[in-house]
Order: sequence, then C-alpha cells, then structure tokens
Amino acid sequence: MKSTFAEIIGVGHYVPERVLTNDDLAQMVETSDEWITSRTGIRQRRIAAADEYTSDMSLAAARAALAVAKIDPAEIDAIFLATATGDMVFPATACLVQNAIGATHAYGYDLSSACSGFLMGLETATAAIESGRAKTVLVIGAEKLSSITDWSSRDTCILFGDGAGAAILRASSRPGVLSTHLGVDGSLANVLSLPGGGSRHPATPQMLRDHLQYVHMSGRETFKSAVNVMADTAERVVKAAGLTFDDIDLMIPHQANLRIIEAVARKLGGDLMPRVFLNLDRFGNTSAASIPLALSDAYHQGKIKPGNRVLLVAFGGGLSWGGAVLEWTI
Ligand code: ACO
Repeated sequence: MKSTFAEIIGVGHYVPERVLTNDDLAQMVETSDEWITSRTGIRQRRIAAADEYTSDMSLAAARAALAVAKIDPAEIDAIFLATATGDMVFPATACLVQNAIGATHAYGYDLSSACSGFLMGLETATAAIESGRAKTVLVIGAEKLSSITDWSSRDTCILFGDGAGAAILRASSRPGVLSTHLGVDGSLANVLSLPGGGSRHPATPQMLRDHLQYVHMSGRETFKSAVNVMADTAERVVKAAGLTFDDIDLMIPHQANLRIIEAVARKLGGDLMPRVFLNLDRFGNTSAASIPLALSDAYHQGKIKPGNRVLLVAFGGGLSWGGAVLEWTI
C-alpha cells in the first residue's frame, strides 16, 4: 500500500505576445484560413521574439505555477523540463531555469520525447515523489517550435506555435496523480522527426541545404497512429485509476489537430467531446508545452475544480505517447 502520493499544487503557463493568424500564413505559403481551420481547427498561434528563448518561456510559466503553489523556489528538489527546442544542446535548459528561478537546492535535466515529453516528466516526478527521493518537483513543457519550423513548407508550418506550461508536484498523503501510462514505438521513428543537428547529420552547409534542421512529418501516418495510441492510452489510464469515462470531468488531449481529437473521442464512445478542453484554435500545436499549457489554461479559466478527475493524453515523435489521470486538489 502506498502511503506517499504526488499531487499538483500549482500550474502556470506563458505564451509570447506575437499572434500569427491563418491569414498571415496565407501571405507566406499557398494556403488559406478555410483550409487550415477545417483540416486542423487551428486559427492562430503565438510566435516568440527572436531574442525570446525556451528558457525564458519556461521561467515565466514556472513563476506563474509557483505563485499558485505559494512555495519558495528553494523548496524545489528537482526540475524536469520537456522540450525538443532547448536553448542549446547542452547545458540542459533545466539548468538555466534552476539558476534564473533561484531553485538553489534542485537538480534537473531535460527530457526529449517530443509532444509526449510533459507526460514523461509527470511520470518521472510522480515516481521520484512516491519513492521518497523528492518532495517537491517542478515539471515544465516548453517549446520554441518556430525555430525548427520550415516556414516555406505548408505541410507543417500551419501546425506549430510557441509557449510553455509548468506544474509543481508535491508529496501528499492523498492521491493526486491516480495513474500514468507511457509507451514508445521506435519502428515509426521516421514518421515524425527532426533529423539534423544530432550525430547522424551534424550541422554542415549541406545539412542546412537539405532542410534537415526542420520538423519532417508524414501527416497522414501520424494522424492514424495518433488516434489509435491516444484512445488506447486513455482507456488504460482510466481503467488503472479504477474509473470509467463517466467519472472523467475534463479530458485534456495533446492539442495537435481537432480532427484527431474528435476521432479519439468517437473511438472512446459516449459523450466525451463536451468534456474535452481545447485551446488549439488559439495556440496551435506547441508539442511538449501543449498539455501543461492547456492544463494551466483550463485551471485559470475555472474549468477544473477540487475533486475533479482530469484525463491527460498525448502522442508525438518517437513515436511516443503518454497518459495520466489526476484527482484535482487545488
Ligand atoms: N494548405 C492548403 N492545402 C494543403 C496544405 C495547406 N497548408 N497542406 C497540404 N495541402 C494539400 C495537399 O497538398 C493535398 O493536396 P492533393 O490532394 O492535391 O495532393 C491536400 O491538401 C490534402 O493533404 P493531406 O496531407 O492528405 O491533408 P490531411 O487532411 O491529412 O491534413 C494534416 C494534413 C493537417 C497535416 C493532417 O494530416 C494532420 O494533422 N496530421 C497529424 C499532424 C500532427 O498531429 N502532428 C503532430 C506531431 S508534431 C510534433 O511532434 C512536433
């Protein structure tokens, strides 16, 4: 029997000021507001300033979460930062945040799992807390996807945006994170990748000419896999929490594409869609930031109340996926 549980005591988010609308994109590539809205549900996204980095957005989201949690940064034992767009390959962006926020007693590192990264961080934080190795953990998902987007490719540039979300987890005698489930399938690695800049294709003029520094995606294959793994993951975590979908007050899926989300809700049956939180119309797909940004957005809009059960489910490059059910306590 577990005696120590992890509960979320604060959430926060940040998005950059600049708004890029579908009409703006139609000036850049051959597309239209009608096409993007009907195929994805996205109407606009936020784009970070040239001198605004993933660490800056992480810091703003973390400060907002700390304000909700009402704790001192020195109380944080660990910082897990999920991103595919860290400021540098190393040091980890978590280190930059640790210093800037004054988390003087924290260790930390970055997690690379594309859009599923925040769920990987949430699971790692929960395990650290339940095992007694940490008491207070800051988990961040943050992306400056505009820095890895090929702005000449209409296949991908319409999807992405920048932003950050953060959650603070703390040891508790009452259950907060009820269940988690994670998975990967590396046989589908080529479906969604950023091939350049690593040891396989280091930075060279040829690599840049080949556009390997940008996100590459097979849209249809990603779509199909996403629907299947998100539905399966949602079923697993709801069952592991000892609940049914009727017990779920709010579902927060990865904000990739409205059609994917609707297909997942249909597959799960019942009348789930009215209980699904959406903000992809305003922020697009922000990869690892997507889930914590939506969780914090929903909380600050008053859509999550103490006692609510919240289902999180994400998928992304890897392919990778993750889910969790939370009992909300704040
Ligand atoms: N504007 C206008 N037309 C377009 C655009 C565009 N932006 N993009 C593609 N088209 C055209 C295509 O060329 C094609 O034309 P054709 O029929 O003449 O060949 C037609 O529209 C249909 O293209 P599809 O790719 O079949 O369109 P689809 O309905 O599959 O929508 C989309 C494409 C939105 C990318 C969809 O497949 C999708 O959302 N996939 C999942 C993407 C995703 O979730 N990625 C998340 C991971 S991101 C990460 O991990 C960082």
